[in-house]
Amino acid sequence: MNKSMIEFHEYLKSCKRIVALCGAGLSVSSGLPTFRGSQGLWKNFNMIDLATPDAFYIDPGLVWQFYSWRRYQALHSQPNNGHKALAKLSKLENIDFITITQNVDGLSIRSNHDKSKLYEIHGSLFELKCTSFTCNYKDHNNFKHPLTNALKETEEEFENVRKRRFQEDQLNSPQFNPVKEINEDELPRCPICNDLLRPGVVWFGESLSLSILNQIDNFIEQSVDLILVVGTSGTVYPANSYVDRVIHQGGKVAIFNTDIEESSLKDNEIWGFKGDAAELLPIALKPLIDE
Ligand code: OAD
Repeated sequence: MNKSMIEFHEYLKSCKRIVALCGAGLSVSSGLPTFRGSQGLWKNFNMIDLATPDAFYIDPGLVWQFYSWRRYQALHSQPNNGHKALAKLSKLENIDFITITQNVDGLSIRSNHDKSKLYEIHGSLFELKCTSFTCNYKDHNNFKHPLTNALKETEEEFENVRKRRFQEDQLNSPQFNPVKEINEDELPRCPICNDLLRPGVVWFGESLSLSILNQIDNFIEQSVDLILVVGTSGTVYPANSYVDRVIHQGGKVAIFNTDIEESSLKDNEIWGFKGDAAELLPIALKPLIDE
């Protein structure tokens, strides 16, 4: 075991309040792609461009096909050992712990993470909500696939991607069938008002749930000993602000990422563990979760 892991273990054993801040890298070894870099494409569209209210307004059929594909991918993936290590941490009674995840894939919940300690700040692929301003219909834990007949076929593409990955050791850039033109009538509709339904995720430019942000603020205000920064590029606010707040209060940081810039580790308060979060987290958290 390297020196910094031994030092980290010593510090970890003294921690009473811990936060994990997670991003797409946590789910990579479950087979799900990240947003940025070469994996962040769907049929030649940049995934970040599709995760916007504008994209949905202009072409809801296109955006629904993208989300149908993501729902199928997530449903056919399994939580990995990184999710499971955090879930175990959430069950410990002697540690105050929360996970803040930017992931919408539902894998943390499926790893048996304590739900009261899990904040899915960007929503969930398995929540649907009505687009009408006057209707507040929401459907939680909707795992149906496909949601409508017109949204069929995204699964074939996922299987193709999987096969290709085995053959070429390449990650997802699924540029297979052209995007279908789908009439709005053939997309998921609200059972109350018949308006269009949309995925219950937070898109770029939209506000996060104030109630969730307040609960996170309350936790972080009471000084945190350690923040685990897992598989996130830290480019999106407010997630990226939590690290500075923890450091400011005297807490330490441990980064788990396949790509860590050396310059970000100059500070003594930061450990950097380079590699797959699914492999590293169980090793790093062993002193607490294996006891
Ligand atoms: P990104 O795609 O921006 O970053 C993923 C991070 O995971 C990168 O830093 C990778 O180096 C790292 N990574 C890749 N594979 C890894 C592995 N096996 N183990 C550990 N780390 C790995 O994804 P996020 O940071 O989650 O928001 O992106 C933040 C938000 O921006 C997303 O929630 C989404 C996106 O656009 C919205 O949709 C609102």
